[in-house]
Amino acid sequence: MNPTVRLFAGPEELGEAAAQEILRLSQAALAKQESFSLVLAGGNTPRVLYRALARSDSDSVLWPRIHLFWGDERYVPPDDSQSNYRMARETLLETLPIQPDNVHAMPTHFPDPEEAARAYETTLRAYFDGPWPVFDLTLLGLGADGHTTSLFPGSPALEEQTRWVVPAASPAELFIPSSPPSPPSPPSRLSLTLPALNHSRNTFFLVSGTEKKKVLREILRNPAQAATRYPAARVRPRNPAVWFVDRPAFGS
Ligand code: 6PG
Repeated sequence: MNPTVRLFAGPEELGEAAAQEILRLSQAALAKQESFSLVLAGGNTPRVLYRALARSDSDSVLWPRIHLFWGDERYVPPDDSQSNYRMARETLLETLPIQPDNVHAMPTHFPDPEEAARAYETTLRAYFDGPWPVFDLTLLGLGADGHTTSLFPGSPALEEQTRWVVPAASPAELFIPSSPPSPPSPPSRLSLTLPALNHSRNTFFLVSGTEKKKVLREILRNPAQAATRYPAARVRPRNPAVWFVDRPAFGS
């Protein structure tokens, strides 16, 4: 099945449209269920989307019944400029009437990221029954190298088949020069695993910018072949992802 692509002129239009689709999806779901679980993406592309959500008519959106989770996090304090939580706080959380207890940020205060990953999995297991988390909607970005969340090409985290959350190394940590031998630094990120992502009811990829054109073209043209190289192409939920793409990323 060919991926579903929705094409927009630029990041603003992409963000506005994705925000409207999130509102539509959450309202439809909350007409039939008590709460709605939304996984936020990190990086920069989602900023426009989050700001558009923050401008939404909060009375019409059932924000108090929406639970927020993160697909990945950099292992830094929540007020660090690199924090995905901080980006969401500044663009979304400070504006909307979201219940603080419904904001499930990835913890980064443990000395060991391994402890943090296990703690976040416990948080997820307290919300979800069953063998895997089933998020109502997962938002994902795409790196120019084909990564998504903090699942980078060549990462051992890509092969995890039982855990929901793992520590994940960045490319700089994955390919440390062999000499001089230095003690490996702890992974600098946390990430949901592919099986955890692949049980989502709905998945949106948000892709903007010319630097994504090459990898996006390979993924859209031959997803199976791309899956041998790019972690993002291994996100294959039962309900296929919808790709929100701007013209610079899609190309002519
Ligand atoms: C992160 C993100 C990462 C991001 C991609 C795309 O923590 O960096 O989760 O997976 O989505 O790197 O980032 P941009 O949208 O900023 O290009």
